Amino acid sequence: MRGKTVLITGGARGMGRETARMLGAMGAHIVIVDWEGEAGTRLRDEINAGPGSAEFCFCELTCMGAVRELAANLIKAHERLDVLFCNAGITDPVRRVTPEGYEHHVATCHLAHFLLTHLLLDLLKQSTPSRIIMISSEAHKAGDGLDFDDLNNELIWKDHSKPSNSASFTAYHRAKLSNLYFMYEMAERLTGSGVTINAISPGFFVNTSIYRNLTGVFMLGAKIVFGAGTLFGWNTPQRSAKTYVKLATDPDLQTTTATYFEHEKVKATSDLAKALEPRKQLWEWSVRQTGVGSAVAPNVE
Ligand SMILES: NC(=O)c1ccc[n+]([C@@H]2O[C@H](COP(=O)([O-])OP(=O)(O)OC[C@H]3O[C@@H](n4cnc5c(N)ncnc54)[C@H](OP(=O)(O)O)[C@@H]3O)[C@@H](O)[C@H]2O)c1
Repeated sequence: MRGKTVLITGGARGMGRETARMLGAMGAHIVIVDWEGEAGTRLRDEINAGPGSAEFCFCELTCMGAVRELAANLIKAHERLDVLFCNAGITDPVRRVTPEGYEHHVATCHLAHFLLTHLLLDLLKQSTPSRIIMISSEAHKAGDGLDFDDLNNELIWKDHSKPSNSASFTAYHRAKLSNLYFMYEMAERLTGSGVTINAISPGFFVNTSIYRNLTGVFMLGAKIVFGAGTLFGWNTPQRSAKTYVKLATDPDLQTTTATYFEHEKVKATSDLAKALEPRKQLWEWSVRQTGVGSAVAPNVE
């Protein structure tokens, strides 16, 4: 990976951090994007002490203005981008809304990545063969899909002032399904461009801090699963990061696109994720929110 630049959103902790460590050890330059400043700079210094190099970019991905500023700075500072990991994600029972009015799951998991990917597309095209990797989840299968009358999750929290584990699961399911709609639509639009886009399910209840906001029996359940997983070693972030690294580096996957992986193997997405109509509708809505990704395929002059 020497000479290659890899950007990881949410790269300061969890599976993003393990991926940064592994790719840094392979000599890559890692751009860690996160709002956890202390963890991000510590990781940057750790990677810079090894064979690779790293920089930390503080960014509140919930804020579309911050995403635009991040992309502008990256374009100024970098001549290439070989791998873009759209990894940052949350699950939060408290309903939070950004100053621009977006519910946090929608803003972090979907809109920020929709915007960032489009803003960095020229850089990715300049660096072909290059790869976009979406971090989705098997949670994309665990629900009824998007509600096109409620794309900003106004209705799933019955009382906006009260935390709800089940509302956060619904919001998370929709966000992870949105990652796959984005993958399928973008893959079509990137046909022949030399940029591929694939997705990952990192596994089941991987032992990171993403579930720390759960409460009550949900938290108890999570702790039991984490404990069992840690005992048998099947839910470590290091194990999941191997799939991230494979998708970023495997020469056999250079032209593979629109494919979903779990634990280094191809896995089927749900039928709902493959449906054409919702993915087109989500795309059009996202274009209206962000002002990028208009109907013209980006690779068509
Ligand atoms: N862990 C699992 O079991 C699991 C399973 C399936 C899929 N996934 C997916 O895998 C990806 C990585 O998850 P993880 O478990 O490694 O999570 P994690 O340990 O919480 O790491 C995610 C990182 O992203 C940061 N982040 C979140 N929102 C952000 C924002 N708006 N702006 C900037 N940084 C932000 C987090 O900061 P904070 O810590 O401050 O939030 C954290 O540093 C996510 O997309 C998640 O949905 C995870």
